[in-house]
Amino acid sequence: MKILGIETSCDETAAAVVEDGRRVLSNAVYTQIDIHKLYGGVVPEIASRKHVEKISAVVEQALSEAELCARDLDAVAVTYAPGLIGALLSGVSFAKGYAYSASLPLIPVHHLRGHVAANYLTQPQLEPPFLALIVSGGHSHIVRVKGYTDYEILGRTHDDAAGEAFDKVARILGIGYPGGQNVEALAGEGDPFALSLPHTKYPDAPYDFSFSGLKTNVINQVHQAEMKGSPLPKADVAASFCEAITSTLCEHFLAAAKDLGEKTLVLAGGVSANGILRRKISQAAKEADCRLYMPELRYCGDNAAMIASQGFYEAQAGRFAGLDLNAYATMDIAEAVF
Ligand code: KG4
Ligand code: ZN
Repeated sequence: MKILGIETSCDETAAAVVEDGRRVLSNAVYTQIDIHKLYGGVVPEIASRKHVEKISAVVEQALSEAELCARDLDAVAVTYAPGLIGALLSGVSFAKGYAYSASLPLIPVHHLRGHVAANYLTQPQLEPPFLALIVSGGHSHIVRVKGYTDYEILGRTHDDAAGEAFDKVARILGIGYPGGQNVEALAGEGDPFALSLPHTKYPDAPYDFSFSGLKTNVINQVHQAEMKGSPLPKADVAASFCEAITSTLCEHFLAAAKDLGEKTLVLAGGVSANGILRRKISQAAKEADCRLYMPELRYCGDNAAMIASQGFYEAQAGRFAGLDLNAYATMDIAEAVF
């Protein structure tokens, strides 16, 4: 089954063709980063307009790279939630029009389910059940993936998402957008234990996260040092923040694995590109005798191959939508109603 995937939930306009959920035939991504960089973050209105402008060409590119045309496809899968509502609507509207004109079924895909599916693209042996740590710009979840379309959220952030915290720390350090990559690069030159930073824990919800206190603590320490006339070395701030946030993510994830007796672990989402996080969780998984799967770096950030992959499994579960499909800015991964 060849599925055309379409992804426009944030600042990447993406289209891809994937066969049977696992074989990537093409993967086209137009990133708007250079535009949003000028504003220090994603401007939703600009993102929506750029998606509308680029989506046809990106879909054309995905089809031509796969050496296919519309009649070779079996379905269209599109990210319908969660994300920026205008951005999502651009993709959903295009997908509806495309599916209608080519007489193809339409499959709605939850963005975070797509991030998990990014692992299926390069790990043929990976199948649910497993435990996933999903860390992106908008979400930080520990999720039990019971089946390809069956999820249970065990832990979530009470405030900022991990990626959001990276982006805000990057902003305070003046190292621009997108934050995560820049903070990681700078961290390589710093001392991870230069700053003492808090680790928020919820005794009644041990797998939950809170990154807002951590972010504010970093901001306060940077400001106080500036006011005293002895600014903190930026590399030390970046390294200490990376150490703190990745330790928390790793600790809570491995605690959940231990408590549940889960031996198969999966990373997902934009922050899973972070080398410090990857190394830390790899080491901890090894010590806990768990198998760890991580998406290839090119599939960590937003892309449409992951959406086409998950679309295959949504189709297997009979989850097709009509042309009245709507987009939703927020939607629980476990519910994913449409
Ligand atoms: O999954 P994603 O591409 O988009 C959302 O669904 O949100 O994640 C984007 C987030 C951004 O906050 C970005 O700063 C973060 O992922 N990110 C990273 C790295 N690369 C991207 N965070 C830490 N280290 C990285 N190397
Ligand atoms: Zn994403």
